Amino acid sequence: MKFFVDTAEIADIKELAETGLLDGVTTNPSLIAKSGRDFMEVTKEICGIVDGPVSAEVVALDHETMMKEAETLRKIADNVCIKVPLTIDGLKTCKKLRADGTMVNVTLCFSANQALLAAKAGASFISPFVGRHDDNGFDGMALIEDIHQIYSNYGFETEILVASIRNPVHVLQSALIGADVATMPPAVIKGLFKHVLTDKGIEGFVADWAKTGQTIPTA
Ligand code: G3P
Repeated sequence: MKFFVDTAEIADIKELAETGLLDGVTTNPSLIAKSGRDFMEVTKEICGIVDGPVSAEVVALDHETMMKEAETLRKIADNVCIKVPLTIDGLKTCKKLRADGTMVNVTLCFSANQALLAAKAGASFISPFVGRHDDNGFDGMALIEDIHQIYSNYGFETEILVASIRNPVHVLQSALIGADVATMPPAVIKGLFKHVLTDKGIEGFVADWAKTGQTIPTA
């Protein structure tokens, strides 16, 4: 399972990239606004930090302008993945961009039928938003299960990129279902490392080791 971080904050991306466990980055217009950075500049900087896909979202709502924006965004770096919304214009744009091999992430997916359409449009990634789905009284994880089933029924190669993840349980459930990618806020990724018994165990080992008076030679 690939781990992407869902942020445009450079310090967080650098910190997580240093673990060697970060496979990509997703951004969206809200995250760019939150960063306070220039979209083109920050996207270029992110693309230089990670080797994997960096999703940069178009903001136009019509196909022609989406294509023009995508043209600008894909020149930023080879690892830019163009993010388009799940609309008719978005999927038209997806289909066209995929024809010449451009990576495309179709975002704002809230139904299995939408995910089916994105796969038919050749999307590299489909982004179902599980947290927002849950917030609105639906079952986000049932959506991931349905998409996974449909994609496996037909052998679609579109990767399921679980988005709008709010907690480690979303990550666990996504992994159990077999989703390809989880994109998470930095705090959720960091939370995956944590366990109270790990901390307690380290405390015990450190205390007991100190009693031995020994050191492990490091030079
Ligand atoms: O990047 C898309 C998605 O992950 C947004 O998450 O928390 O704003 O619903 P959220």
